[in-house]
Amino acid sequence: MRSPPPRLGLWAALLAAAALLAVGGGGGVAAAEGAEEAYVTLLYGDEFVLGVRVLGKSIRDTGTRRDLVVLVSDGVSEYSRKLLQADGFIVKHITLLANPNQVRPTRFWGVYTKLKIFNMTSYRKVVYLDADTIVVKSIEDLFNCGKFCANLKQSERMNSGVMVVEPSETLFKDMMNKVDSLPSYTGGDQGFLNSYYADFANSRVYDPNNPLTPEPETQRLSTLYNADVGLYMLANKWMVDEKELRVIHYTLGPLKPWDWWTAWLVQPVAVWQNTRQNLEESLPGTGGGKNPRDQLVVIILFMLPFCMLLCGYYGSCFQTNKELLSISTLCAFARQARYKYKSEEALPSYSTVGVASSSFGISNQKLSNGANLKLPSYFGAITVLVCFTCALVSLAFAFIIIPRQVMPWTGLLLMFEWTFMAFFLLFWSYLRFVYKWGSCSANHVGYSSLDSSENHAGPGTLTCEISWKFQVPCSSLHALWFVCRPSAEYI
Ligand SMILES: *[C@@H]1O[C@H](CO)[C@@H](O)[C@H](O)[C@H]1NC(C)=O
Repeated sequence: MRSPPPRLGLWAALLAAAALLAVGGGGGVAAAEGAEEAYVTLLYGDEFVLGVRVLGKSIRDTGTRRDLVVLVSDGVSEYSRKLLQADGFIVKHITLLANPNQVRPTRFWGVYTKLKIFNMTSYRKVVYLDADTIVVKSIEDLFNCGKFCANLKQSERMNSGVMVVEPSETLFKDMMNKVDSLPSYTGGDQGFLNSYYADFANSRVYDPNNPLTPEPETQRLSTLYNADVGLYMLANKWMVDEKELRVIHYTLGPLKPWDWWTAWLVQPVAVWQNTRQNLEESLPGTGGGKNPRDQLVVIILFMLPFCMLLCGYYGSCFQTNKELLSISTLCAFARQARYKYKSEEALPSYSTVGVASSSFGISNQKLSNGANLKLPSYFGAITVLVCFTCALVSLAFAFIIIPRQVMPWTGLLLMFEWTFMAFFLLFWSYLRFVYKWGSCSANHVGYSSLDSSENHAGPGTLTCEISWKFQVPCSSLHALWFVCRPSAEYI
């Protein structure tokens, strides 16, 4: 079923051979040079796979012939590795480099692993990019930068999101020797590199039109090569020439571009989503950055509310809902509730329907008599409170069940559908509860002879008249639960 992954190494060799034949040896150096250089990124877990795919696509779109390498650790599934390979990446497995810092944020456990790019000695030079970056314009000129190039950010701090590195075993060994002794202000690789290249802030800015020879040890990259989305958010525009922009870095903490809601909050995510939509179907069902599992969940989530609505309709409970939601029914609840508080004396027996109508009559009578009203004073407040709680719970619930990496529009649509649906079910259940409470109380006061077992339940209990109508929302909630459980795995 699955197409075999293209063997990039083989292709590179063939291309090199073809180039050699075409230009007759003279161009051999240039062709070989391409294979000596690579774009590299790092992947710790499946959550960032889509990020790496989009990054890869954006680099390929610049027309490069250099290798695309992704270093994957144990946390990455076999499927993701196959997918990245099918996308054209050279997938290399690495073991995590334990973080020597004792006091550190837990998410930084393996970040020192990034230092392993300094050990990729099979390449003359590598351009490293974080998985949450995207290339919007060719950055081939970075391969002419010095032995170590990066961006300066946040007052004299070097950012390790985009780096040009000349791998060297000596350098890497020296780093490994100093990992335990040098301080790291972040508790991660970035802090370490800032200590290691202590004088980095004083290095010259790299000018692609004027590369220095010999290449300096360290050089600074312009903001164009690592444009922070946080910077954009500050002024709501790029503070650099937008046409010259090369790399966008989505650094906003938990707001990663692959989460559907980010597209609605952060404008530059549109660029990322565009590239994502153009992703090829390198494995079945992965075109446009889709995920076969998520797609199934999306279809189920989209259809389920409609199915439930249909079922409800055919169960004729739809009409009951309408009736329940009308103002007059609400008033009936209130009256019945008040009736329970009001009347202490025994009344002649009525049928269920009879009680409802008689309670109207009695309460109206008492109203006209000017008798004191004993409707629970907190009833209105509680209803408002329940309404808001239901809305919040529905919103949170919808947010949780929707797969995170769906397309922005899909996410928004499902969000609306499920918030509305969950709210409807919750609030309806509440109304139903109040209604039952009211009619039960009325029945008890009235010593209804409809069902003899009711009378043994005692006043105030809700065991009476649990009709099939009440079971509809319960089974719906049951269905909700079954949807949540499988989808929780992908969140
Ligand atoms: C560094 O690279 C060398 C040669 O490729 C390899 O033998 C060694 O295991 C690497 N070191 C680490 C810590 O990955």
